[in-house]
Parts: sequence; structure tokens; C-alpha cells
Amino acid sequence: MTARSGRHFLQIPGPTNVPDRVLRAIDAATIDHRGPEFSALGKSVIAGLQRVFRTEGPVAIFPASGTGAWEAALVNTLSPGDQLLAFETGWFASLWRQLAERLGLKVEFIPGDWRHGVDPQKLEARLKADHAHAIKAVMVVHNETSTGVTSRVAEARAAIDRAKHPALLLVDTISSLASIDYRHDEWGVDVTVAGSQKGLMLPPGLSFNAMSRKALAAHKSAKLPRSYWDWDPLIAARDTGFFPYTPATNLLYGLKEAIAMLEEQGLENVFARHDRHAEATRRAVTAWGLEVLAQDPREYSSSLTAVVVPEGHDADALRQVILDRFDMSLGTGLGKVKGKVFRIGHLGDFNDLTLMGTLAGVEMGLGIAGVPHKKAGVQAAMDYLAGNAKAGAR
Ligand SMILES: Cc1ncc(COP(=O)(O)O)c(C=O)c1O
Repeated sequence: MTARSGRHFLQIPGPTNVPDRVLRAIDAATIDHRGPEFSALGKSVIAGLQRVFRTEGPVAIFPASGTGAWEAALVNTLSPGDQLLAFETGWFASLWRQLAERLGLKVEFIPGDWRHGVDPQKLEARLKADHAHAIKAVMVVHNETSTGVTSRVAEARAAIDRAKHPALLLVDTISSLASIDYRHDEWGVDVTVAGSQKGLMLPPGLSFNAMSRKALAAHKSAKLPRSYWDWDPLIAARDTGFFPYTPATNLLYGLKEAIAMLEEQGLENVFARHDRHAEATRRAVTAWGLEVLAQDPREYSSSLTAVVVPEGHDADALRQVILDRFDMSLGTGLGKVKGKVFRIGHLGDFNDLTLMGTLAGVEMGLGIAGVPHKKAGVQAAMDYLAGNAKAGAR
């Protein structure tokens, strides 16, 4: 590999670029995780996460990738053989289902075309038909990172309520928390799953569960075996600041700083910024004459855009050209859409010019790779951003 100058453009939909402030915060001596200084840190990051999740309830922090928090959400609330309902929205919904089945749970998987999110009407109809209340939980991936489709969680909640069904609502916000509006308490979510490496602008390595009262009640009778993932000692950390095992101390320094950055900007402005960059990206895609994978405008993702390449062209070959020529990483197509789409991540520590650099790299790459397109995407995005410089722009 030849030596590169300038920063690599990491425009995958997570892990995202880690801001210098967060990197500097992590770059500090590790402290005694049983000492008083740590206790203050532990309490402060848990309180900060409650504000980000918008919950008054407990939040557990795991030294694990998002998959660990997926597992924790299940083993803390369910028993062997329990029936779950999930929707095939894409690759991550499919992986979560697989994990649940490996734990001995039975998942009914409503088929999908990987271009739409959870259909609240289908959810309501299925739950209404479950007279015996055999379904114990509904699993929803809020933002499907493989497709750029955001499911409407508040509407899913309303559908469950209309069906008067007691199932728990478990929601994966791994690629939406701190990028797309999300409200754990207000939306009546029972367990929210999240990770450090996307909207929270940290390196990979931390993941989270936020829990409702109903989830805590289910936890008391849940019979799946659990040890490392058990919520109890992690809930106690809210008052003590201490964890039951060695925490990822330096990542917690970073978390404290990242929460401070989000709150300085204001979460509403952070969401508005992501919405705006997503809109500029879609305008570029349309001006290129290409297609966004998400088909329902109510479900467009603000943290990433999956772009469909024309028939006869390979999205991964295009990504390779862009990596080789411009030192930019774009997201690959996963599972069923491998080779058919590439994904532009526009989340985390990101501004107008990061987006313009990203879109310029894509437009140049389309030309070099010989993918038919109009050279109008960058201009369309610039016109939108310049004409629409709102508070969220910073
Ligand atoms: C929506 C979603 N869920 C779950 C995961 C799995 O998380 P991890 O790879 O951190 O274990 C990812 C990873 O990208 C994701 O985007």
C-alpha cells in the first residue's frame, strides 16, 4: 500500500469517525475501577446515557459490541421456548433473529423485501390474532443499517397498544441513537439496544440496554441462563458508579466527552443535522440518476443512504475504485443486496464539507468505474446545503 496523506474518509455507516476531542479524552491514564474517581465517572456516564436514551429508567453498559447488547436484551427478559415476533427488514434483523434462535427462542419472522421497515398494520393484525398471548416480545430494528430504512417505532408501539397485547417491545437503535430522534420512555419501548461506534462517535467496544419497568418485571421471572449479561449488578451501578467486572475505563472517558459534545450541540440540532445531510445525499443520488434503496419517504434513514447500482454493475467494484483512488471507505452491500448497493454513512462527527468530500468521491468514482450516471449529484447537494444552512449545520 502506498503512503497516504490527509485523513482516510471513513464513510461507512459505523464505526464512524471519532472526533479529536473524544480521542484526546480516551488518551489518559487508566484509573482504579474500584476507586472514588471511577465511581464519579460511572455515575456521570449512566446519567448522561439516560438523557440520550430519553429515559428515567436504568441503563446497562456492557464492554461488548452491539451483538452483546442484543443477547442481553433477550436473556434478561425471556425464557426458553418463548415465542417472538420479528420483521425481515434486512441483514441486522436477520442476525438478531438468528441469535434469538440460537438461545432457544422461537421467532416468527414476517417476510420483507429489504426496502421497507416494520409495517404497523401487519404488526397489529398479527398481535390481534394471538388471542392466547403466546408472543412474548416484538423485536424491531429502528434503523436497518443494511438498507437505510428507519422503522417508525412510535407507530409500532401504537399498533401493539391497539391490539391490547402484552408483548414486550425490544428495539435495536445501534445505528440511530444520537443520530435520529429516539425516545425510550415516551415511545413505550421496553428494552432499547445501542452501541458506541455510530452516533455516539466512539470506537467500537461498548454497548447498552435501556429498560422499562415492564422489562424489569419480566426480568424477575425470565429463565434463560444469564451470568455475564445479567442486568442486576449493572443496574446497581447507577447508584454506586461501579461495575461487576473490569469496565472499559478509557472508552468511558470517551463516552463522557461524546455526551458532552452532543449536549453542547443539543440533541435536537444533532437530529436536524443528520436529517439535512441525508436529504442532501438523496438529492445527489437522484441527480446522478440512481436509486435510493429505501422506498417509502416516511422511512428514509437520516444516518445512512443505501444506493442501488444499475443492473450489470457491481457495487463492490465501485467501492474498490473509490478506496484505491480516493482513500474513502463506503459501506458494502450485506446479504441479499451484496454487490447491488453501496452505503454512504452520514452520521456521527460529520459536517457539510465532510458530506461534500464524500459525494465528490462517489461522483468521481462512478465516472472511473464506468457506472452510468449524470454528473449532477455534487451540484444538487451543494445547492441544497448552501440554500438551507440551518442551525443544525455545524
Ligand atoms: C442495526 C445494527 N444492529 C446490530 C449490529 C451489530 O452490532 P456489532 O457489530 O457492534 O456487534 C449492527 C452493526 O453494525 C447494526 O448496525
